[in-house]
Amino acid sequence: MSTHRIAVLPGDGIGTEVVPAAQRILERAGDLFGFSFDWTEFDWSCEHYRTTGVMMPADGLDRLAEFDQIFLGAVGAPGIPDHVSLWGLLIPIRRTFRQYINLRPIKLLRGIDSPLRGVVPGGIDALVVRENNEGEYSEIGGRLYRGTPQELAVQESVFTRVGVERAMHYAFRLAGGRRGKLASATKSNGIIHTMPFWDEVCREVGGQYDDVEVEELHIDALAAMFVLRPHTFDVVVASNLFGDILTDLGAALVGSIGIAPSANLNPEREYPSMFEPIHGSAPDIAGRGIANPIGQIWSGVMMLDHLGHAAAAQALLDAVEDVLASSDVRTPDLGGKADTAAVTAAVLGALEDRRPADSTVGVRG
Ligand SMILES: NC(=O)c1ccc[n+]([C@@H]2O[C@H](COP(=O)([O-])OP(=O)(O)OC[C@H]3O[C@@H](n4cnc5c(N)ncnc54)[C@H](O)[C@@H]3O)[C@@H](O)[C@H]2O)c1
Repeated sequence: MSTHRIAVLPGDGIGTEVVPAAQRILERAGDLFGFSFDWTEFDWSCEHYRTTGVMMPADGLDRLAEFDQIFLGAVGAPGIPDHVSLWGLLIPIRRTFRQYINLRPIKLLRGIDSPLRGVVPGGIDALVVRENNEGEYSEIGGRLYRGTPQELAVQESVFTRVGVERAMHYAFRLAGGRRGKLASATKSNGIIHTMPFWDEVCREVGGQYDDVEVEELHIDALAAMFVLRPHTFDVVVASNLFGDILTDLGAALVGSIGIAPSANLNPEREYPSMFEPIHGSAPDIAGRGIANPIGQIWSGVMMLDHLGHAAAAQALLDAVEDVLASSDVRTPDLGGKADTAAVTAAVLGALEDRRPADSTVGVRG
């Protein structure tokens, strides 16, 4: 039986509520499908920052490098500037471990009503490939003449050939294995250096993938089309910022930001990848036990896939959909009255019904 060594970073706010819920479910998936987890938890968070002055210790990345994968909740807390929590923990992990793909499914699950009229489950089924290591999220820039009328701020974007090419190759390969359609998010009319470069690389790389049809769309028009004709999107490739914004919109279209997952992937598997929901620490509901655990659970589904447990991953996503489609057990963000614990229990129950036919593991008592 394979055992996977996972670093767990619950982080802040609802991260500390949804991560243990998802861990319980992943544990059970392992029992049923014949693998196990060896979890090591780290308390690196804004709370850690408050007491130590750093989001993680100096050797934090070296310690994480020892693990197979990283399972993260969310970071961010009132009183700590968001750039401190992001640049002190998440971004160093994504960059040091070359997690250059942030893969975000935008899929309408059975049992969820989209705020869009007339969209049925399966009617939205896209994968957004967000470039995750460079682009608009860069440390290059600065502030001058602070506090004076001449004050100025400069923020540089960084687009490298290596960085754009590898994101494009990943997206083209993915589209080739799906419906063969790729939309590239650009803004080459207004952003006149980096975005024309993005488009050029897209065309060059696209020349190697005859089986994929490409559509280049300005991000503003793409956002509108996400709402007007979401069924036409298969794979979308976008820069760091565009992908970030587009997937929050996408998450809203498929029901709630509370259900949307993501995988920060190092496709070459030289380093651990990191799995986390796209939502944040939600300070407005933290501590009330009502956070939707589905985004964290679905991130666990993506981790199972990455670990090579495709059948278990599919069973777990099916179990989540079974709960949503056949019961009213859902958290308030989806219009329900259930709490995190009730949704977790319901998914655990549904997972038993999705156990493999040859499973010899006893039914949970
Ligand atoms: N990857 C991350 O760790 C990450 C991502 C985004 C934001 N943040 C941080 O989180 C903090 C709050 O940011 P924000 O308010 O912009 O975004 P957020 O995603 O935390 O919350 C936005 C809204 O969605 C709701 N929501 C989010 N997740 C939910 C869930 N699982 N169940 C039910 N409702 C949910 C919240 O209650 C809130 O009303 C900030 O400090 C921000 O920097 C962290």
